[in-house]
Amino acid sequence: MSTTKSEASASTNTSNVAMGIDIGGTGIKGAPVDLTTGELLMKRHRIPTPESSTPQAVGAVIAEMVQYFDLAPDVPVGVAFPAPIRHGVIKFIANLDKSWKGVNLEEVAADAVGRQVSVLNDADAAGYGEALFGAAKEERGTILVLTLGTGIGSALIVNDVLVPNTEFGHLEMNGGDAEKAASAVSRERLGMEWDEWADGPLQQYFTMVDMLMSPDLIVVGGGVSKAHEKWLPRLSVECPITPAMLRNNAGIVGAAAWAAGHVTR
Ligand code: BGC
Repeated sequence: MSTTKSEASASTNTSNVAMGIDIGGTGIKGAPVDLTTGELLMKRHRIPTPESSTPQAVGAVIAEMVQYFDLAPDVPVGVAFPAPIRHGVIKFIANLDKSWKGVNLEEVAADAVGRQVSVLNDADAAGYGEALFGAAKEERGTILVLTLGTGIGSALIVNDVLVPNTEFGHLEMNGGDAEKAASAVSRERLGMEWDEWADGPLQQYFTMVDMLMSPDLIVVGGGVSKAHEKWLPRLSVECPITPAMLRNNAGIVGAAAWAAGHVTR
């Protein structure tokens, strides 16, 4: 039996609940999150990203998502977005509609849903989620989370404090943007086998970030972390390296925790 809208209600017991919404190139996903465990309280809902992913169109989807879960008015809402964000404003955007540049996402989202919304970069959200509830939960020190998808997202978390907007996917590699050579989608676009990718551009990229940041732990996320056995063991770096644990939910969980000011904000 499918879940009806009234069954998908988060309107009770809001004390430790926040809603996370993760905006991606193909889908926008959301769910209310239990902030004591990092678990989703309800089955996550997915709405396809509008073909023309303009601020207006994406704002409407954010509103639809909040309505779907019928949230109590005091449930904080966090939105993860694939671009660097300074004080709510998108600085530049690599993989969604270019009209987002200079737009205040915090205002767009708040106007759409009629309540305050916290926004942060998608990789920062995923990294924050992994640091609080996932693969880096037990780790202190410098944690570098890299998400391999259409682009490469990065999150730097030091003793549970997020250093936002690191954008290490745009480091220069071989005279170009690193994510164009080493992201998961680039592997497909270039027709590379897993070992060719891992031993080639991915290793080169990881050697570079390891040298630049000397983290205590690297967590690798994104869709390809599901198939980590195929490529992760081939990588050689000086620090421990581990696949993400929260998988596709990391952005939702991190955005929710961020909105609630959980732990360190
Ligand atoms: C964007 C980042 C984003 C990453 C993953 C990059 O192209 O510049 O802001 O975190 O892709 O979506």
